[in-house]
Amino acid sequence: MTFRTIIEPFRIHSVEPLRMTTPGERRAALDAAGHNLFSLRAEDVLIDLLTDSGTGAMSRDQWAGIQRGDESYAGSPSWFRFLESVQDLFPFGHVIPTHQGRAAEKILFSVLGGPGRIVPNNTHFDTTRANVELTGATAVDLVIPEGRDPSSLHPFKGNMDLDALDALLTEHGAEEVPVVFVTITNNSGGGQPVSLENLHGVRAVCDRHGVSLFLDACRFAENAWFIREREPGQADRDVADIVREMASLADGMTMSAKKDPLGNIGGWLAMDDAELAERCRTILVITEGFPTYGGLAGRDLEALAQGLREAVQHDYLRYRIRSTAYLGDALLAAGIPVVQPIGGHAVYLDAGRLLAHLDPLEFPGQSLAAALYTEGGVRGCEIGSVMFGLQPDGSERPAAMELVRLAIPRRTYTQSHIDYVIEVCERVAAGAADLPGYRITSEPRPLRHFTATYEPIT
Ligand code: F0G
Repeated sequence: MTFRTIIEPFRIHSVEPLRMTTPGERRAALDAAGHNLFSLRAEDVLIDLLTDSGTGAMSRDQWAGIQRGDESYAGSPSWFRFLESVQDLFPFGHVIPTHQGRAAEKILFSVLGGPGRIVPNNTHFDTTRANVELTGATAVDLVIPEGRDPSSLHPFKGNMDLDALDALLTEHGAEEVPVVFVTITNNSGGGQPVSLENLHGVRAVCDRHGVSLFLDACRFAENAWFIREREPGQADRDVADIVREMASLADGMTMSAKKDPLGNIGGWLAMDDAELAERCRTILVITEGFPTYGGLAGRDLEALAQGLREAVQHDYLRYRIRSTAYLGDALLAAGIPVVQPIGGHAVYLDAGRLLAHLDPLEFPGQSLAAALYTEGGVRGCEIGSVMFGLQPDGSERPAAMELVRLAIPRRTYTQSHIDYVIEVCERVAAGAADLPGYRITSEPRPLRHFTATYEPIT
């Protein structure tokens, strides 16, 4: 018999205090931050759902690994334990450690990018897009049409549009397209998974055109769990085995180990092509560090070696995916529009629908995120026209969706924290029609959302 309640498959071993604040204190803090939630002091946030990146709780065994960390400059045993863990799941011949995912992107696109080049992806994450564009190349998003529709119930809304990919490769060919990327799960599209069938399809299109395929694999374990749950014929498979099949379809990968590998820092670049690896390692040595530690300390490599083993455990993944859906299902039951189906690492509020009185360029997502903070100290992240609206030529174009992401740090908050978040969302939704639009008063570029300042439109 199975129980209705899926409990956290751990007990708490060490705690961090949370600081309670009043609505007046939060309004003042937000004013001082130029209305940008990234500019708040984290102590002024009660429940921090800004990101699931590097914010998870490490396990007892990961902390034990930290003690075991060997800080030899070259050839540390911690490096070999890390390498073994990575290659157990992703058996690429060359693994290049970096301090986080965007460093892996920067190195790879320094080699593969450049003016006139085109990089297709189901949906580029913002740092991935920025690293492609920084080289003068063009980043193109080719997710299936259902992936842009917040209410479509397609089980694999992260899938690549294979016809669109084929058309792009037919037009531009391998000279202009150095690599095809698939992001698993599709973060910017709602944390939606990509099916094995679709990955096989992308591989076939790439083979037809002689182009290599890389995975942006940050949330590979959550993606594999969705495959196990949703894809015909996969229900009895071990998640690690599904991950290996995903890896076998690709020529390489970039990874932010701050997500599914359960690290607070870390990443890597991996590939089979020895010549490409050599060119990447050259940049690594100049910008990150020696090839057996990259941008990381030996202790970080140990934490990741252990985190990777925990990331594919079924009890953990069942809890992880269920606890994200718990939040999403409760919001749906309260009539609050969210991206469906509920993704793996986050619940995405549909600010475009909830704040339908605002134009996309009045930044409904920013408005909703600010309101969640002032109401209850909950910090989420706009994923909409602030993040994606500013074009390389300086013009503004509304994003495909206006979302606020409530990302769930791994193993960090309990069900009662989430019950509180649900209450805050309900209160804000009740007054959503009165929330103001925002205008941007200063912005850097690219990646303006991190440090832009705003003011409400009165
Ligand atoms: N790719 C994806 C799909 C990501 O979600 C991220 C980071 C990166 C690459 C870059 O990795 O942060 O280690 O440099 N996403 C975080 C987020 C920041 O909040 O979603 P990084």
